[in-house]
Amino acid sequence: MKIGIIGAMHQEVDKLIAEMHCRQQTVKGKRTFYEGSLYGKQVVLVFSRWGKVAASTTVTQLIVEFGVDCVIFSGIAGALSSQLAIGDVVIGHKLYQHDMDASPMMPRFEIPLIGKSYFETDKVLIETAKQSVVNLLKHETAFVQKLQDFGVKKPKVTVGDIASGDKFVHCKQEKEAIIQALPTVFCVEMEGAAVAQVCYDFDVSFLVIRIISDTADDTAVEDFPVFLENIASEYAHYILKELLPKL
Ligand code: ADE
Repeated sequence: MKIGIIGAMHQEVDKLIAEMHCRQQTVKGKRTFYEGSLYGKQVVLVFSRWGKVAASTTVTQLIVEFGVDCVIFSGIAGALSSQLAIGDVVIGHKLYQHDMDASPMMPRFEIPLIGKSYFETDKVLIETAKQSVVNLLKHETAFVQKLQDFGVKKPKVTVGDIASGDKFVHCKQEKEAIIQALPTVFCVEMEGAAVAQVCYDFDVSFLVIRIISDTADDTAVEDFPVFLENIASEYAHYILKELLPKL
């Protein structure tokens, strides 16, 4: 099995490149793809860039040019649910596009001509990922200590719905509007559902893993960069170190 790994932040991709036994580097479509082995699995690693179009271009290349059988997307997200705190991990269940609206031709959020309002993640992949994060939070004591020093006292993992859109959500009204329209959604980001849609078109399984970096309100602009540099860049490689051997 060849696994496509997409990082939404160049900091996490750089950390993963350092962990990888890299056989080949290919530049295509303004992206650099790293093929090699990571924690015992054959992978192709790439930085997605930000937003739904950028992520779609990246994942399409992973599938069509590099022939991956499964795609794992990791990055950060803003919390919508009050049950989430900064530093928590969300494993995506249903992936929605909160900015999709072709009404009145079809219901709001429905992807035109597909008849679906969300893309659902494979249950076995979800369970495996969840267990991997539980193990990581139990056993990687140095990393957990680092989280605690940063103020993330009790990091937890949640399986939940995720909404993507071409918008950094950073005010209370925008946040509340998404919660009202999509009440089952736990967090918001800018790529996951686009990756899920491309994977759906090509019958490739996908997994979206997001670390909560902010609460998608007026504090988001301050919290986001601090979290990105200090914590988020390290999370992905710890999660993949646990997860990849189980796939
Ligand atoms: N990614 C991380 N935080 C986000 C936010 N508040 N809105 C959209 N994408 C994000």
